[in-house]
Amino acid sequence: MSFTPGLAGVIAAESSISSIDGQNGILRYRGIRIEDLAENSSFEEVAYLLLFNALPTADQLSAFDARLKAHRSIPEGIVTLLGSLPDTTHPMVALQSAVSALAAYYPHFEVEDSAKNEEAIIRMIACFPTIVATFDRLRKGKEVLAPNADLDHAANFLYMLNGEIPDEKQRRIIDVALVLHAEHGFNASTFTGRVVGSTTANPYGSLSAAVGSLSGPLHGGANERVLHMLAEIDGGVDGVEPWFTQAQAEKRKIMGLGHRVYKVKDPRATVLQGMARDLFASHGSTPLYDMAARLEAIAKERLGEKGIAPNVDFYSGLVYQKLGMEIDLFTPFFGIARIAGWGSHWIEQLGNNRIYRPTQMYVGATDAQYIPMSER
Ligand code: ACO
Repeated sequence: MSFTPGLAGVIAAESSISSIDGQNGILRYRGIRIEDLAENSSFEEVAYLLLFNALPTADQLSAFDARLKAHRSIPEGIVTLLGSLPDTTHPMVALQSAVSALAAYYPHFEVEDSAKNEEAIIRMIACFPTIVATFDRLRKGKEVLAPNADLDHAANFLYMLNGEIPDEKQRRIIDVALVLHAEHGFNASTFTGRVVGSTTANPYGSLSAAVGSLSGPLHGGANERVLHMLAEIDGGVDGVEPWFTQAQAEKRKIMGLGHRVYKVKDPRATVLQGMARDLFASHGSTPLYDMAARLEAIAKERLGEKGIAPNVDFYSGLVYQKLGMEIDLFTPFFGIARIAGWGSHWIEQLGNNRIYRPTQMYVGATDAQYIPMSER
């Protein structure tokens, strides 16, 4: 037996959903390169590809889209639950709670029925945006908006959030961001969902655990922290280098940099950087984009040899903020995309299931005696 902290390089399962070439910065969903999907596809099509292992025909896509639209609404009890949370609740906490509570409205005690399993995943893909938008509007004292069946997944999310139908450029950016974040192999949150799923727990319980895992700053929660980090830097672009030197001296992890698998720039970061650059050019420039680009350049000089480069979270927040999204919605938005990957992994796990039960290297006391309370 061997011990590998963080399970680095340990193969935990076979999977045919996505593959990553970390040395060359290549990501593929079901064999198709992410750049190709970002340019030509839509979130609905990618969700279908991930779930059913094939690109849909036009009829298949329109039937899938109709199923998604039919599952967008959430039970009134979930709206009440979201409304009962303090306004200060982080939206990831609200999302995790609501997803878990879906099991109360859609009991799912057996996971042997593949049609029922598929239904549960489609429901979650469809209603994650509704949960996030509903919570955001409730906490701001705004009227909750019903999903709009005339709009696609991306546009409907923005509509439910902002109360306005987005223009085509905004819709497309959100759609591409959804495509880029939909799946990424055995990352922490996907692994979490698969571990819980391997106990044959209900799908909502399994994937609400994945939401909790994604929320961490070392994982999906990094996208929010990048913006907080940039806000901490005084002096604009010129302030980046002294800030970086100080951060290095304090041995701080720089948010949005580094990855367990990628040793070069994450290909999703390249696409997101292009979108951020365009948005900053067309929607009024602030120093933020230039500061991020400067930070990337310094990191390349000083940490590049260690294989530390921008990951997906480095530029995404710049894009979302330019579209008017609040910082604490960045990670929930990641979850809205990633539920497609989590759901595909949950189904794959159950298709060839064995409960995850690794072992440990015991390093505690041995032969310790019980000491009565009066003698301690
Ligand atoms: N800033 C500075 N140094 C870093 C960074 C960083 N962001 N990331 C890694 N390093 C350094 C470590 O200090 C360590 O150096 P050492 O060998 O001198 O001790 C070395 O690189 C290896 O780092 P680990 O933390 O051991 O790498 P691991 O694979 O365990 O962690 C992780 C990967 C969690 C992503 C890490 O790079 C990190 O914390 N990054 C910042 C948070 C972040 O952006 N997370 C999002 C990742 S993408 C996603 O999950 C959606």
